[in-house]
Amino acid sequence: MENIRIGIAGLGRLGYRHAENIAFKTPGAELVAVCSVTGRELERAAIDFPRATAYTDYAALLTDQSLDAIFISTPSDLHCRQIEAALGAGFHVFSEKPLGVNVPECEHVELVVAQHPNQVFMLGFMRRYDESYAYAKQQIDAGKIGTPFLVRAYGLDPEALIEGAIRFAPTSGGIFLDMAIHDIDLANWFLGGQPDSVYAIGGSFVHSEFAEFGDCDNACAMLQYRNGGMALLYAGRTAAHGYHIETEIIGSKGALRISPVPQKNLVQVYGAGGVMQECVGGFFERFEDAYLNELHEFVRCIREERQPEVKVEDGTLATRIAFAATEAYREKKIVRF
Ligand SMILES: NC(=O)c1ccc[n+]([C@@H]2O[C@H](COP(=O)([O-])OP(=O)(O)OC[C@H]3O[C@@H](n4cnc5c(N)ncnc54)[C@H](O)[C@@H]3O)[C@@H](O)[C@H]2O)c1
Repeated sequence: MENIRIGIAGLGRLGYRHAENIAFKTPGAELVAVCSVTGRELERAAIDFPRATAYTDYAALLTDQSLDAIFISTPSDLHCRQIEAALGAGFHVFSEKPLGVNVPECEHVELVVAQHPNQVFMLGFMRRYDESYAYAKQQIDAGKIGTPFLVRAYGLDPEALIEGAIRFAPTSGGIFLDMAIHDIDLANWFLGGQPDSVYAIGGSFVHSEFAEFGDCDNACAMLQYRNGGMALLYAGRTAAHGYHIETEIIGSKGALRISPVPQKNLVQVYGAGGVMQECVGGFFERFEDAYLNELHEFVRCIREERQPEVKVEDGTLATRIAFAATEAYREKKIVRF
């Protein structure tokens, strides 16, 4: 069978890694085109991906008839309209999370996806493809912890990455949409439903820049689910020790914990200062396999003419909850759906 021919839009922090994964780590797929509005990224891409056609204009990328699929890794506020344009041009589409930066545009893109049932659409909730999270879900589905009723999640970025977060702040949609969205989707997935109310608190404790955008550097949300389930989410941008993604799912007959110590490896260093365990440094390191697994699933879905488990509706739901959390934080009130 012929290779699935992919064009990627966005060659930034994450997009470049996706491009490398498509080009070098995905049998049966080919990186045929790259698109970026940043000259130095395209110069680097010309060296690393010499056979890929380079575009500086997304509309021009979509005229490339040699492509089967578009992989979107551009700023979050562009996702919905770029998804719509790519589906309209006849391509299969993968989009990075979040689906959109407001609920109406997500609802609109849901309709657009529904109008193209024969084209694969996949959203980048890659944690579902991380082996530990997938294993936890299997354990829950097998009844190993009874009925899950509480998800407690930590999603902490290291202080070392703060410059990028500040640069991204004007278009990120805020801490709940940008960061907690993964944990929101996981809570929906693990608890098997959707919340009917949310409350949130937070503050700019270290970097006042976030407050300019109605955002903050550390925040918590508390969600009540329609089926009685609960979620407690903590998102932060200033962790001193590294990238700390931890999830606990508590059920009527037991609990599961995923990476309570975000360890880099199994080495402990015994020194004069005590016993030291190094921490993962960032999302590439922690979720390297998950990014690859989701990409491979996207390519398999195209080949097998089926849709992935992560649906466009999951993206709208997570965005709706993230917005409700943002509103709850800004207006200091419980938001009901
Ligand atoms: N799944 C995850 O864990 C994860 C992690 C990081 C980022 N993300 C998401 O990935 C997306 C990209 O984030 P990033 O940190 O790589 O951003 P970035 O700012 O580093 O890169 C953005 C890229 O988009 C390109 N771009 C901007 N406007 C464009 C346009 N009109 N047409 C084509 N290309 C355009 C830029 O040239 C650049 O290459 C965001 O939506 C972010 O939320 C997801």
